[in-house]
Amino acid sequence: MLVIHLLLLLFQLSLRAQTIPIQTQNFAQVLQVDDQHRLKITHFGKPLQNSGEYQFASEVFDRKEEGANNNNLAFAVAGINNNMVEPAIAVVHTDGNNSIDLKYQSHTSTTTKEGATLTTITLKDPVYPFTVKLFYKTWANDDVVEQWTTISHQEKGKVLLNKYASANLYFFNRDFFLTSYNNVWARELQPTLTQLKQGMHTIQSRLGTRENLQASQNFMLAFDEKATENTGAVLIGQLAWNGNYAIQFETDVYKNLHLVAGINSYQSAYELLPNQELETPRLVYTFSQEGMGKGARNLHNWMRNHNLLDGNGQRLTLLNNWEATYFNFDQEKLVTLFKGAKELGVNLFLLDDGWFANKYPRNGDNAGLGDWQENKKKLPDGIPFLVKEAGKAGIQFGIWIEPEMVNPKSELYEKRIDWVLREEKRPEIYFRNQLVLDLTNPEVQDFVFGVVDKLFTQNPELAFIKWDCNAPIFNGHSKYLEKKKIAQSNLYVEYSRGFENVLKRVRAKYPKVPMMLCSGGGGRTDYDLLKYFTEFWPSDDTDPLERVFIQWNYSYYYPSIAVCNHVTDWSNKSLKYKIDVASMGKLGFDIDVQKLNPKELAFCKQAINNYNSFKNIVWHGDLFRLKSPYETNIASLLYVNKDKGSCIMFNYLSDWRYVSTATPSPILLQGLDANKQYKITELNLHDGDKTPINIAQTYSGNFLMNVGINPRVDLSRTSVVLKIEAL
Ligand code: DGJ
Repeated sequence: MLVIHLLLLLFQLSLRAQTIPIQTQNFAQVLQVDDQHRLKITHFGKPLQNSGEYQFASEVFDRKEEGANNNNLAFAVAGINNNMVEPAIAVVHTDGNNSIDLKYQSHTSTTTKEGATLTTITLKDPVYPFTVKLFYKTWANDDVVEQWTTISHQEKGKVLLNKYASANLYFFNRDFFLTSYNNVWARELQPTLTQLKQGMHTIQSRLGTRENLQASQNFMLAFDEKATENTGAVLIGQLAWNGNYAIQFETDVYKNLHLVAGINSYQSAYELLPNQELETPRLVYTFSQEGMGKGARNLHNWMRNHNLLDGNGQRLTLLNNWEATYFNFDQEKLVTLFKGAKELGVNLFLLDDGWFANKYPRNGDNAGLGDWQENKKKLPDGIPFLVKEAGKAGIQFGIWIEPEMVNPKSELYEKRIDWVLREEKRPEIYFRNQLVLDLTNPEVQDFVFGVVDKLFTQNPELAFIKWDCNAPIFNGHSKYLEKKKIAQSNLYVEYSRGFENVLKRVRAKYPKVPMMLCSGGGGRTDYDLLKYFTEFWPSDDTDPLERVFIQWNYSYYYPSIAVCNHVTDWSNKSLKYKIDVASMGKLGFDIDVQKLNPKELAFCKQAINNYNSFKNIVWHGDLFRLKSPYETNIASLLYVNKDKGSCIMFNYLSDWRYVSTATPSPILLQGLDANKQYKITELNLHDGDKTPINIAQTYSGNFLMNVGINPRVDLSRTSVVLKIEAL
């Protein structure tokens, strides 16, 4: 009897479709193999209590239209027309056939040494020796998924990949609200909300190097209704790629959404050799059912723990000379600036653009890029002298480079024009008077690595690099690929890979040195590059009011430890307002300290001391956005450290129209311990100013989260920083 039962069970099991749940603590994406061996997405949302029930998800849909029942493929194919959606992959085989079908072969699931779960699913074309592997790396506690593919074949010649996405997602029957971002120099990350209706909506870049110049690869997709900080189901993420990307949102008549994300196929049909494997970039996302705040904290935790270089470490405060001097400095001037840095109390002096090139000196942005020798007129004693002098002044020294680029007015261009991306038959097109070097060429990779290596070899005490990149690829032709008889349409992909190779070499030799990722402001901020960088420059716009908005938007995707904010002379807002805004991240200054009067200097010093007292909460704590400058006339943000013992609250006036008070009601705090008793201190007050807040009183976390605290922001108190500490 028992044997019959067992046999029956085994028979039933064999009939059941193979079900593969991709699960984190709070959400699940379920994949299932259908009776034709195609892999489909059957569920995306809350994990089920009984995972045995996932197998029934596909049965409860009624998809009668012919073809529509293949729209939810886990990786949509092109050319056999049995699905009606945008393909994730499209190929031309060696024999000229341009169809592909992918059938489930096998899957494995392992735990990585960092504690993630890696599910690998192998799909194969039943007719051609062509393989796609789907990878899902899940971080259960952070609710984050990294999803990508590898593509390979054993055909007799090259296969042309017309499309090769990283991931394809599918969501059933919801209303979708997409937040995406337009970018423009000095106005990065401008959000726009689109309710997705039937048809295709794409966010993309075709600029090569400065991938974000026009649009960011960050996005938020809210389900059913617009998400708030604490409510709503929302998927937040980005395509982690330093190059052209496309994220396509295709919505059908049943309000199903098919999302395809990957390298942009613009000018990029990729020639893949037999047995070569193309690994696509990661689509990184989290799914929160408790609003954007939780989703952002998931990404912050994941970034700090697993993606940002030294994400749980420390950072240096600094004084940068860019806005203080631009190209106009010499070593004497720099040495006086070092003293200013020391006086302020920052850790490091950062020498920006303009220190190099002799035949065509770098005295403006039209010459010298590529010639990485110290300019003898400005720096007769070279960088080693500056490093030594900085040391004598009691600070560390860092330096700016832009090694992927070249000005036509440079010795490098004269000597190695074959290293430059340019269309020989057409006039050169410049962006900021410069061109991009050909990083597909290993010799150019050596050169770029050599720029960094030489600086460190000659100056072992060099403590910081700012790596800039000001031009997009406007002249997309590589002499190297031409010589090697590799298709020019491989250029964008090979450039990005070449750049990553250089960074891998830099990090193999200099694993820890802090490096700032910069690209004419925030032109490059992808998670891919941030594996090699400790921080990034979000915008050249340092007007603190603009920064309130810019930083607000970045804060959904990046932990504040990664975001560099500098106090500069942009705008007539008070020094206090500027410092308070810049303190919400990695604080720096870009001013001539000599020009500060004694009162201002004393204020800066005190503010830096205060910053040092709370920076670890900003860098490593949980962020709660309390009041949005888009919805009210202030921005209010709270960082809470992991044990809920110390918090720092920033409040900024964001609308200067007359109001007698910008905070008529208290602001409810979040993330505290209801049972702890907290005391409040106001920081960064000017000498003699008294806080209107009752600091003699202590309050329970319960009170602060349910009644709140009033920072008393108005036109005379335009920014208010409060430290809230458990007794
Ligand atoms: C663009 C960067 O965003 C600036 O901070 C500065 O480094 C300049 N380049 C220098 O040319």
